[in-house]
Parts: sequence; C-alpha cells; structure tokens
Amino acid sequence: MDSKSIRKKFLTFFESKSHKIVPSAPIVVQNDPTLMFTNAGMNQFKDYFLGNKVAESKRVSDTQKCLRVSGKHNDLEEVGIDTYHHTMFEMLGNWSFGDYFKQEAIDWAWELLTKEFKLPEDRFYATIFEGDSSENLDQDTEAKKIWMQYLPEDRVLNGNKKDNFWEMGDTGPCGPCSELHIDLRPQSEVDKVPGKDLVNQDHPQVVEVWNLVFIQYNRLSNGSLENLPEKHVDTGMGFERLAMAIQGKQSNYDSDVFQPLIQWVAKKAGVDYGKDEKTDIAIRVISDHIRAIAFTIADGQLPSNNKAGYVIRRILRRAVRYGYTFLNFKGPFLYQLLDILVDQFEGVFPELTSQKDFIAKVIREEELSFLRTLDNGLKKLDTITSGKAKVIEGSTAFELYDTYGFPLDLTALIARENGMEVDESGFQKEMEVQKNRSKSAGKQTTGDWMMVHEGDETVFVGYAETQATTKALRYREVKQKDKTQYQIVLESTPFYAESGGQVGDTGYLQFGEEKVEVIDTKKENDLIVHFVKKLPSSLESDVRAVVNESKRRLTENNHSATHLLHAALRQVLGDHVQQKGSLVNDKILRFDFSHFAKMTDEEIAEVERIVNQKIRENIALDEKKNVPIDEAQRMGAMALFGEKYGDFVRVITFDSDYSVELCGGTHVLRTGNIGLFKIVSEGSSAAGVRRIEAVTSVAAEKYYQQKLELISELEEMLKHPKDLKKTIENLVKENLANQKKIDEMNSQQAGQIKNQLKNEAKEVNGKKLILYKGEFPSADAMKQVAFDLKREVDNLVLLIAANIDGKPMLTVMLADELVKNGMNANEIIRKMASAIKGGGGGQPFYATAGGKDISGLDEALKLGKEMVEAS
Ligand code: SER
Repeated sequence: MDSKSIRKKFLTFFESKSHKIVPSAPIVVQNDPTLMFTNAGMNQFKDYFLGNKVAESKRVSDTQKCLRVSGKHNDLEEVGIDTYHHTMFEMLGNWSFGDYFKQEAIDWAWELLTKEFKLPEDRFYATIFEGDSSENLDQDTEAKKIWMQYLPEDRVLNGNKKDNFWEMGDTGPCGPCSELHIDLRPQSEVDKVPGKDLVNQDHPQVVEVWNLVFIQYNRLSNGSLENLPEKHVDTGMGFERLAMAIQGKQSNYDSDVFQPLIQWVAKKAGVDYGKDEKTDIAIRVISDHIRAIAFTIADGQLPSNNKAGYVIRRILRRAVRYGYTFLNFKGPFLYQLLDILVDQFEGVFPELTSQKDFIAKVIREEELSFLRTLDNGLKKLDTITSGKAKVIEGSTAFELYDTYGFPLDLTALIARENGMEVDESGFQKEMEVQKNRSKSAGKQTTGDWMMVHEGDETVFVGYAETQATTKALRYREVKQKDKTQYQIVLESTPFYAESGGQVGDTGYLQFGEEKVEVIDTKKENDLIVHFVKKLPSSLESDVRAVVNESKRRLTENNHSATHLLHAALRQVLGDHVQQKGSLVNDKILRFDFSHFAKMTDEEIAEVERIVNQKIRENIALDEKKNVPIDEAQRMGAMALFGEKYGDFVRVITFDSDYSVELCGGTHVLRTGNIGLFKIVSEGSSAAGVRRIEAVTSVAAEKYYQQKLELISELEEMLKHPKDLKKTIENLVKENLANQKKIDEMNSQQAGQIKNQLKNEAKEVNGKKLILYKGEFPSADAMKQVAFDLKREVDNLVLLIAANIDGKPMLTVMLADELVKNGMNANEIIRKMASAIKGGGGGQPFYATAGGKDISGLDEALKLGKEMVEAS
C-alpha cells in the first residue's frame, strides 16, 4: 500500500466511525505564548478539552502537520542520525471531545492496525500508565483490562510518568496514555531477544506507532493537576512510521514517503544511499529538513533572526551544512527539492502547491546567504590553519560559530583535516558566558495570576465601543531587571489586543477615583491582557476602561487602507500577491507581500490611484462575524491559511467585488474616513517579499504639505523663477561645465608640479628621492602626479606632504624594483601619518594618508626621509 492510500484509509476508517474529517491546523502557531509550532495533533483542540469552547462535532479525525524542534518536545539533534525521528511529521489522529473513551479508542486502534492494515498481531506491545504516587495517580487498570481482550498479559507493559503520562507543555490538558509499539525485526532476532525488552529502548525497529491519550486533567502553572469537566480522547499515530511498518521497511526513510527525496539527493551527490553511514546521515538530514522548511514557509513563517524564524533558519542551515560537508554541495540545492514535495502532497496540503515558486525562492536566497557566510568563515579558518599553531583557540571557534554560523563540529572537522585540534572546553566556556549575558539582559520573571473575580475569558466589545464598564478578573506582576510592571485581565474590554498586524490599544483604566495608564494590550489565548505600570490600591471595584480614541481612529484608517492596498496590488501586479506580514499603527502602515520584482514608478502610481479612488467612493464597511470557514472561502476571502478547524471567522468587505478579507482588526465605517493614501516607500524585505510603507489621512496630508513647502523654499532660494524645473536643470548643467573646467585647470597645474619635481630628484643610496611639501589642487591631481612620476623616473622614491584646501594629505610612491628589494610604502606612510595625527595605507608601492594636524607636514616629510635614508 503506498503512503497516499495509507493516509486515506486512516481517514475513511474513522469517517466510518462517525468522525468528521477536518483539515490540519497551520504548523506555525499564532497567539499562544507557550508554543511556537504545532507539536501534536491535539494543539488545535486545546480549548475543547479545557472546556473553554464547545466542539461542533464530538468526534473528529485528521492528519496534522507537526514540528518538534523546540520546547518540551524537541527531536532535532536525533534527526538524520537515527532512522525514525523527524523534524516535521504528520500525526494521524482521532479525537473524542467528551464522547467515547478508552474502550472505543483501544478497540478501533486494534481493528485498524490488525484488520484493515493487516499488521501482525503477535508483533504488538501495549504500554499503560503504572501510576505515580507523588502525583497521587493510580495505575491505569482500565486500559490494561481492555488491552487484555486482544493481547496476552505479558505484552501489556507498565510505563512510567515520562513515557505514559502525556503533557502538551508545562501547562495545559494532559492525562495517562497507552502506547502501541511494534516489533519490526526479522524473526531470527525476535527469537534471540524478546521484543518486550526493547520497548521504549530507542531500538530503531521496535518503535512506538500510536499513542492513545486519555485526557482528563489540566496542568496548572503551579504544577498541580486539576480535573477537567469531561473526559476526552486524543490519539496520535506517526504517519511515517506507520508507512514503514506497512511497507515492511526497516527505516522510515526507506518508505515511499522519503525515498523520492533520498534518491534525488543521492543522485545529485553522485553517491548510493545505504553504502556509507556518513553520506547516509547527510542525505537523511536533508530529506527530513526540507519538509520542515517548506511547510513552515508555506504557513507564513519566513526564516529570520528571532523566535520561530530563527528556528527555521537553524534547520535550513543544518541541512545546507550537512550537504556542504558530506555531499560536496557547494551551491544552493535544497530549493530544487520542492518539485518532489509538491508532487507528494498534491491534494493533501494545497498550501505547498499554491506557493511553490515563492517557497523555492525564499529557500534559495537563504541558502545563498548562508553559503556566503560559510565561505567567509572558511577563509578565516584558512588563515588560521596555514599558520604554525596546533590548536584553534576556544575564542576563535566561538567567533566562527557566533559571527559566521559555523557549528563547532564543522570547525573541528576542518581542524582535523589540517592536523589541528579545537579547544572545545574553551569554546563551551565562551558559550556559557554568552548565555549568561543574554539571560541577565532579557531576564523576565512573570508571577502567577492572582484571581480577583471568577472567569477564564475576556469578551471584546471594542468593535462597537471605545469605553466600557466592567470588572477585573485577574492580575499578575512582571519583573524585568529593575522594572516592575503589571498585567490586568478584564471580564470585557474595548481595548484591542495586538494581532493581525494591528498594534494593541492604549488608554486608561479607572478604578473608582484612581486612574492607571494602559501602555499596551496583548492576547494570550482567550484572554486580553492590559499592560499597566502600576496597580490601583484595590481591584475589587468596577472598572471604567477607556481607549485612547484618536489614536485608535488613526490606526483604523491605516488598517482599512491596508485592505484596499492589498486588493489594489493584486489588480496591478497579479494574483500571486499574498500578504506576508503587516504592521498597522496610528502613524503608518507597513505591508509585506510576495512579489519578485521591484515595483515600477508607474505600478506604484497606479496602486495609489486605485486606493484613492476607493476612498472617494466612500464604501461602507460590511462586517460579518461568526462566518464558518468554508462559507468565508466561498465569499472569496483572501488569506485563508492560518485558520483552524471549527473557527468562525470575521469577514471584512469593502465592496464585495473589490476587497474581502478575513480579519479580526478594527476598521473605518466608510472608506471616506481614510481621507487620503500615499505610498512613501517600496523596497525588499526578504527574498521574494516586497515591503510597502504608506500613510493616510492627516499623516498623508502632512507628507504632501512638506513636499510643497520644499518646493516653496526652492523657489524662494532661486528668486521665484518662472519655470522652476528649467532653472534647476540649467543650474545642474552649468555646474557640470564648471566642474569640467576646474578639472582641466587642476590637471594642468598637476602637470607643472610634476615637471618641477622631476627636476628636483636627488640621488640617495642609488634611489631617486623626490620630496614635496606644499599646496595641491586636489587629491586626484596628487595621485596623477605620483603615477606619472613613477612612469618617468627610474628607482623613484616620492614623498608628498600636501595641503589640499587646508587639509593635510600624504603620498608615498615607490619604484617596483625597490618594492622587490623589500621597501614598503605602507610602512613609510604609517610613520609619516603619525606626524599629522592621521592614518592611511594602500599597497606596497603606493600609499596615501589623511590627518588632522596640518602643522605636522614638515615633520611628516622629515620622518619619511629618515626612513628612506636608513633603508
Ligand atoms: N498528544 C499525543 C501525542 O502527541 C497523542 O496525539 O503523542
């Protein structure tokens, strides 16, 4: 069975058990400070487990794109070295939200694996939670009993808290789990060592395939467990491992999920996969990593220097480096794998297909830039390894790592090839120092939430209101360095929390007579958090929450204008334009979008024209709340990636034939409010991504006013000419003509100086020494004289100490024969420059210097002369 059929069969099996098949959530997580990437199928259902939201369907099933490269579940260092860990993988899952529990979950898992996929029953082991006294948790005898309907008792094994109590992160839904492991070894080996001794022992062929989690607790930030209102099922099966088992392979990479990638990489490198462990690891790393890279970029996360973007950058660099070092790939190659990926996921994950060119371009640019860094680092290493030292210092290895992105093992490898060693403990020390530095710089301690009134959710009333009376639910303290701030959560709030590019509102909260200023507002799952500098003396009373309205209105202008801009860009540039990021505040709007070329002046003018026309049309805002995702799609809404199953979305329309977008932000009631729109810059923000900055309403007016003022000032300066443009053109022309005349005069003067100097040459130790101190018309003229004299005077030593428009400048020119005999213009100029408080350099035959002290010209010449006489 090929992997596409395996995935399909899984889903149709659960469909036949009344599960609704839902799409994967994005791999990049938004609005959850505890998680950067989706690390399990259950992430998108967290709120159903916690009882914060009610699920539309109580049984669902899907294949979820997961990434385990940070936080609690991090497999990165294993990937490629072994044959069964991955960065990105698909997790097949079925869920019950307060519906069925252990019996059905286990029955169906067994039925699917042994009856449908026909995997051998006698090769399975089930593990169950053995209990944990410190948490006051009992053994899961219920699961054990159910498993014993299918398996003999000696194949139902106890597992500890680490393996059999599943938690998403430090906090959140959790519960005991029961894992199914399969033994894929040949019979001869099974006869020697029973599979049960190898369960959970990191054996590549005795692996966990399916984890059935019985979610019934919530882990709180203080470490304790709280019972959830209902019991749920969360299962996760590794798709790649399942394919390996069904296809009778020994490694995930031997299944058809990876083989097309593996074979392509092997062919390109001119090696056979399976012959040499070193090249095999590199091929596996690349085949694995390209999937993580492509899927995260498709979901909107570009490689960058911080947070999620940095994780992607590191994965990409790991792949490039393995290719560089072990497969001799010296140019970009990863991006070429995209064709294969798109082919494999056609019809399953459409986001890859629709953004293929964009993703490839981003990857290629990243590869190129990292390869350049690698190159620079290699050059630096070259100068070290060609010297006499036997050891590369820890500080040097660290600099290579920190500045050039050179991992320690690469430095060590190159060192070994040159018969050197790396001071690894010195490297680790430097690493420690840096870690401590950044820790103490960014250290922030967030206290626990202190409850004021009951409630786990904030109602946002800010679409309609900018003021509201409500009460405080909770607050906490946040300490950073010597600064203490506080966060307050209200039951309902008009304050917009930063999201979708729109900044958080500011304003104040009034508790009785006391006002506290709100400096920012941010989201944390279903809470809206107000950042304040101080707390009121009591939080018990009613609160009047008041948003800074003028700031909010200006921000709204910019947000609605962003939608108009997005639509105009698609009209003018084409449908490939997709939003890649945005920032909207009261001063400016910034919009990043996929497009490969610099926009022409005409395109920019056309986009501005369309947006301003839409403003003048004074189109009314059409806001639809709680639209099911598929309906929004039918309405033609842009930007559908990034939404989750079950989400009801808000659709913002300005003319249904012009702009329809999913958006949670706040907007103008009519486009006329925006007043005026002006693009102030267009440039590149990342590979394949352009950035436009624009202003609206008062800021746009001000922009034009300033331009007009500039013109008035110019007119004034030029005494109000009839035709300003012509007058400036004439000035530029005259200026050019004058400059030409000056250059000619300078050149003549330089010729005279040269002739005079040529006659003044003196013999010193077989050299023709020429000294000059005095005025020079320009630096160019001085250079011309030096080069002319070099051509015309044999054995020349020329030292010039010039005054050019009041500034000291030095020149040393030497005949080639003298340089061959060991003289060096750089050494002489350095000495001379000390007399004019300056510095400079150049080549061994020609060097120049500038300085600050014109009174030192005589001394400079004297020092130079002494050096020449002594040589
Ligand atoms: N949440 C569990 C896991 O990730 C089962 O889906 O293993």
